[in-house]
Amino acid sequence: MNKPTPANPLRLSTDYPELGTAPLDITRRFTSDYFDLERTKIFSKTWLWLAMAYDLPNPGDYVVKELEHAKASIILVRGNDNQIRGFHNSCSHRTNRVAYAPSGNAPKGFTCRFHGWNYGTDGTLNFVPQDDLFPELDLSCNGLTPVATDLWEGSIFINLDPEPEETLAEFLGEFANSYAGFFDGMEQACAYSVEVNANWKICIDAFVETYHFAFVHQSTAAGVLTSKDNPYGRLEICRLYDKHRVVSARANTGYTPTPTEAVIASLGMQQTLNPDFAQAAENRLPEGINPAKLNDWATDILVLFPGTVIYPWTGWFEIMNFIPVSHNKTRWEMRIGMQPATNAGTWLSQEYNSTLIRDVVRQDWTNLEMIQQNIESGAKKEMHLGDQEIMLRHQYDVVDRYINSK
Ligand code: FES
Ligand SMILES: [Fe+2]
Repeated sequence: MNKPTPANPLRLSTDYPELGTAPLDITRRFTSDYFDLERTKIFSKTWLWLAMAYDLPNPGDYVVKELEHAKASIILVRGNDNQIRGFHNSCSHRTNRVAYAPSGNAPKGFTCRFHGWNYGTDGTLNFVPQDDLFPELDLSCNGLTPVATDLWEGSIFINLDPEPEETLAEFLGEFANSYAGFFDGMEQACAYSVEVNANWKICIDAFVETYHFAFVHQSTAAGVLTSKDNPYGRLEICRLYDKHRVVSARANTGYTPTPTEAVIASLGMQQTLNPDFAQAAENRLPEGINPAKLNDWATDILVLFPGTVIYPWTGWFEIMNFIPVSHNKTRWEMRIGMQPATNAGTWLSQEYNSTLIRDVVRQDWTNLEMIQQNIESGAKKEMHLGDQEIMLRHQYDVVDRYINSK
């Protein structure tokens, strides 16, 4: 018997091919063999979000990022010429690492601790002890190996392909300009990181639908998105593109803040999961955010393929990066950016909201290792994805397309 059409189907505003409603085959998508294909066909070829430019405010500032899927260690450094560059963290002598701390300031560059070769912040090989021992060594072409690096709205992306097939702007496509200025003026309120024993796609799946909200987040934030009229949360205006995807989430306009939330709101910072609709109406968001101008808009859920999820809220943001460590392990890193705190009250507001969001996302992690283990058990051969889980269906379709490409 045919089921009735849902009362509130997602409204799609792109011409991405029909994804159907069939169950998703889970027998092949989470194996180590499939992960090997993802490593070579996706993570070694596409632009990857890695950090924020505000991580490197001064010349010589650097961060080191471990990308286990590529067995690579990457240095991002702001050169003494103020330009941000990326390099493989590997010495040209006998390939040892040259940067050892996760971050720091090194205006004199990086010195390998094995035999003392030194590289400038622009990657140039500057000094080789006893260079007369290397009669064939040309310093000018033995600097650190560069990695394609580019910026988008204050985010630093890299591409591990020595000759990327497309520029970052081409890769971002419709999002290259549609978030213009959104992140400006915000600073890091907090950052969280955790390693989870679950496949990277399973992890992303938990952050791109609100179908779970009433259940997983009952004790924290369910009331912000759900109500009697909308008991399970509802996503709208899903936009599926060639690689990336985004959807808008409606808020509960009848939500009554808790007493603590009311105090926090009175301190002058509306950087909470409970939107201030008056402020939201005044706030001029870039065209790519809440494009349908929903008056009960809470946030958008933007997935930049392959593994970056951005929630742009009114006046603040969350960026989550899902870094595959293996076929069944993922490192998740989260940034929360907010308007700078200007006094003790706004600082307290920032702290409260950062802590609340931490508690919400901790709940998101509770199911994922069980899911991973059960997939590996083979007990189920398929998953059922509903209309509100179309972001998941799109993800598996895009990944499949990359895997099946030449
Ligand atoms: S391996 Fe770096 S100086 Fe020898
Ligand atoms: Fe959640």
